[in-house]
Amino acid sequence: MFSIENQLIQLWIGSFTLMVTIAVVISVWAAWRTITRQRSQLLSVNTELDARVTDLSLEIERRQQAEKELAEQAAALARADEVRLSRQRIITAEETLRRKIAQQLHGSVQNRLIFLTLRLKELEKAAAPEGLAAELRDLHQKFEELLDGEIRSISHQLYPYILHSGFVPALQSLGDQFEGFMEIDLQLDQELMRRERSDRHLISDETKLAAYRIAEEALTNVVKHAKASKVTVKLDMPSPEWIRISIKDNGQGFDPEKVAAGLGIVGMRDYAEAMGGECAILRAKDQGTEVSARLPLATPVATPAPEHPQTVSP
Ligand SMILES: Nc1ncnc2c1ncn2[C@@H]1O[C@H](COP(=O)(O)OP(=O)(O)OP(=O)(O)O)[C@@H](O)[C@H]1O
Ligand SMILES: [Mg+2]
Repeated sequence: MFSIENQLIQLWIGSFTLMVTIAVVISVWAAWRTITRQRSQLLSVNTELDARVTDLSLEIERRQQAEKELAEQAAALARADEVRLSRQRIITAEETLRRKIAQQLHGSVQNRLIFLTLRLKELEKAAAPEGLAAELRDLHQKFEELLDGEIRSISHQLYPYILHSGFVPALQSLGDQFEGFMEIDLQLDQELMRRERSDRHLISDETKLAAYRIAEEALTNVVKHAKASKVTVKLDMPSPEWIRISIKDNGQGFDPEKVAAGLGIVGMRDYAEAMGGECAILRAKDQGTEVSARLPLATPVATPAPEHPQTVSP
C-alpha cells in the first residue's frame, strides 16, 4: 500500500516536472521567436534608415550642387551686367565728348568765324582797289559756305541736337537727309507717337540716342553698300516697355560668311547691348538687309532682353 502511494507520488512529481519542463521550453521558444521577430524588424528598420541616410546625403549633395550652380549663374549674370554697364559708360563718355566738341564748334568756333566774316565784310566795303575787294568778297563767301555747310553739318553729325525736339522729329529729319539717295518710307507707330508727344520723357535720352545712332549707321550702310532703291524705317512698340526700330532695304543683301563686320555693325550692337537691348542683322542674298534693334524705354535694365533671333543667313 505504502509503495503504491509512493509510486503515485513519484508519478505525480514526474508528470509535474515534465509539465513544468514543457512550459519552460514553450516559454523559452516563444521568447526566442519574439526576439527573432524583433531582431528582423530591427534589421529591416536599420536597412530602411540606411537607405534614408543615403537618400538624404544624395539630396544634400544635389542641393549643394544646385546652390553652387546658382551662385555661378548669379556671378555670370553679375559679370554680364558689369560688362554691359562698362559698355554703357564708354558710350556715354564718347557721346559726352562728341557733344562737347559739337558745342565748341557750334559755339566758339562758329562765333569767331561769324566775327571774322563781319570783319571781312567791312574790309570789303572799305577796300579801294577793285581787285582786292573782289578777293575779299570771294573770301567772305567761302567763310559763309564753311559756316553754313561744314561747321553746321559736322556739329550736327557729332551730336544730333534735333533729338531735343523729340524722337519722331529727329527720325523724320534723319530720313530727310537720306531722301536724295533713295525712297524712304517712314512707318511710325501712331500710339507711340501720341504717347511721345504727350510725354517727352517716355523714351529715355539714352534710348533715343542709341536708336538714332543705329538708324543713322544702318541708313549710311544702305547708301554705301546696298544698291537699294527703297528703304523702310519702322518704329513700333513690341511690348509696353520696349521700342523696336528696324531699317529694311530692298538692296543686294550680303553673305555674312564672306563679309566681315566692320565698325558700323559692331557699333550698332554696342549701342543696343549697352542699353540691355539687342540688335539683329537679318540678311539674305538678293533679298535686302534688315537691321532690327530692340531697346528698353527706360535706361538701364538689369535683366537681359527677351529672346530675339540674332542672324538669319540665306
Ligand atoms: N544694308 C547693307 N546692304 C549690303 N551690305 C551691307 C549692308 N550693311 C552692311 N553691309 C555689309 O557689311 C559690311 C560691314 O558693315 P559695317 O557697317 O560694319 O562696316 P562698313 O560700313 O564697311 O564700315 P564702317 O566701319 O565705316 O561702318 C559692309 O562692308 C558691307 O559689305
Ligand atoms: Mg558702316
